[in-house]
Amino acid sequence: MKSAPITIIDHPLVQHKLTLMRQVETSTAKFRQLLKEIGMLLAYEVTRDLPLKYEAIQTPLARMDAPMLASDKKLAIVSILRAGQGLLDGMLELMPSARVGHIGLYRDPTTHLAVEYYFKLPHDVEHREILIVDPMIATGNSAVAALDRLKEYHPQSLKLICLVAAPEGLKHLQQEHPDIPIFTAAVDDRLDDRAYILPGLGDVGDRLYGTK
Ligand code: URA
Repeated sequence: MKSAPITIIDHPLVQHKLTLMRQVETSTAKFRQLLKEIGMLLAYEVTRDLPLKYEAIQTPLARMDAPMLASDKKLAIVSILRAGQGLLDGMLELMPSARVGHIGLYRDPTTHLAVEYYFKLPHDVEHREILIVDPMIATGNSAVAALDRLKEYHPQSLKLICLVAAPEGLKHLQQEHPDIPIFTAAVDDRLDDRAYILPGLGDVGDRLYGTK
């Protein structure tokens, strides 16, 4: 099966903000702000294909048929805890009526496998287009586990949105879920021996919440 595309979001604002996030001296407050801003910019890119409908409206000067989002396309954003929350906040600024799901997964420090500890989705997920947000695709284990679970609910569509991906993680994802389009701001060099992305930006959860 031919894999769905990997889209690199190379918009200069995204690239600039990502570089600021990578810098070790960037404070927790600044890191959080930047991740939220990038979340907004990524939301803008990944929703390009949303269908529009035309509605008759009245401006102060004239009547016109004006484009609006077609209401039959319902979105849900699913955040992979805990780092997904940083991107989610920005995406919700642009799409305030999107429903939100959460999947709690932690990485077993020895096996690097994803272990699920929380799972909550909107009740009508089978009628929704799902955007999964997980800033770092390292081994790809968390994203694969999240997709395995989400597919059980047969949503209308699934897209995976991240900030930085490792080639190893992308390969793994495309092997296990070749049908899923992936959007990322960068593909970095490789994983280190603890499965962190190099050069990467460190542990996103720790940098987002100041836990280290
Ligand atoms: N998760 C992170 O937060 N950073 C990495 O480099 C890999 C996984």
